[in-house]
Amino acid sequence: MTVHDELEKFYTTQCDEASRLGSSLKGRLELARVRELLCRYLPEPPASVADIGGGPGIHAQWLQADGYQVELLDPVARHVEQATAAGLNAVLGDARTLPWESEQFDAAFLAGPMYHLVDASDRRTALREAVRVTKYGGFVAVVAINRSANLIGSSVANNLLARRNVVTEILRDGFSAGNDRLAQATYHTVAQLRSELMGAGLRAVSVHGLTGPGGWLTVMIDSHYNGLPLPDSLREPDPLHTALECARLADRHPDMVQASSLLFGIGQRD
Ligand SMILES: C[S@@+](CC[C@H](N)C(=O)[O-])C[C@H]1O[C@@H](n2cnc3c(N)ncnc32)[C@H](O)[C@@H]1O
Repeated sequence: MTVHDELEKFYTTQCDEASRLGSSLKGRLELARVRELLCRYLPEPPASVADIGGGPGIHAQWLQADGYQVELLDPVARHVEQATAAGLNAVLGDARTLPWESEQFDAAFLAGPMYHLVDASDRRTALREAVRVTKYGGFVAVVAINRSANLIGSSVANNLLARRNVVTEILRDGFSAGNDRLAQATYHTVAQLRSELMGAGLRAVSVHGLTGPGGWLTVMIDSHYNGLPLPDSLREPDPLHTALECARLADRHPDMVQASSLLFGIGQRD
């Protein structure tokens, strides 16, 4: 099975990416924080944004509604069809060989390729491509998954004992062939993500905690309540607001990035 076949199968039969960010508390936190962090760095609309690995276009839709000119690329046919049906410009393709001109965009966003490309050389190629299509001074932003996410997430969900071998491999290698949670995924340390972004020639690199320490509250609620009625203490105040405030407070303290399951890395083309 090729890399793309595996992704196609995962996103067609196992994961409904079109509903992921709206159907769980953790997904809603991720959506809100991507929006918050991207908007902190993007130039004003109508700047152009390449959404590389944009899936069905959940982020591309709010970007386009805000006035950005968005081009989306994804290797999964279902995603490209869904994005096109949502009124986006979307093409089938791979982050390692972008179909666009050099310096075509004001910014590039990769939420997918950094964790789905398991070989470091492939991630290097994808980052170089993202840098190539971005104008000088423009931003390249990525989402990666923290190496510790499976250890902490499995403990919070209380299934660490069943997943112990997979978690042990991920902590050691950043990858596990037995990982059934996500198709071919790699997990970054914070230092590794920073080094990969700097290695692609980006300057002023920052790594933010995307979901922040309060993201674990959303994981706990999603995994233990999953549609069940919540006790009062988990309804008021809204746990999404708690998690968002936690991520914002932690953002002021760079060491706290280690406590976030998702990482948001960004740098500027030199
Ligand atoms: C979890 S989804 C995220 C979708 C969207 N970016 C978001 O954040 O909501 C990961 C996406 O990365 C895409 N992807 C994986 N490998 C890729 C590659 N080599 N080039 C481009 N996209 C890729 C997948 O097809 C999938 O749509």
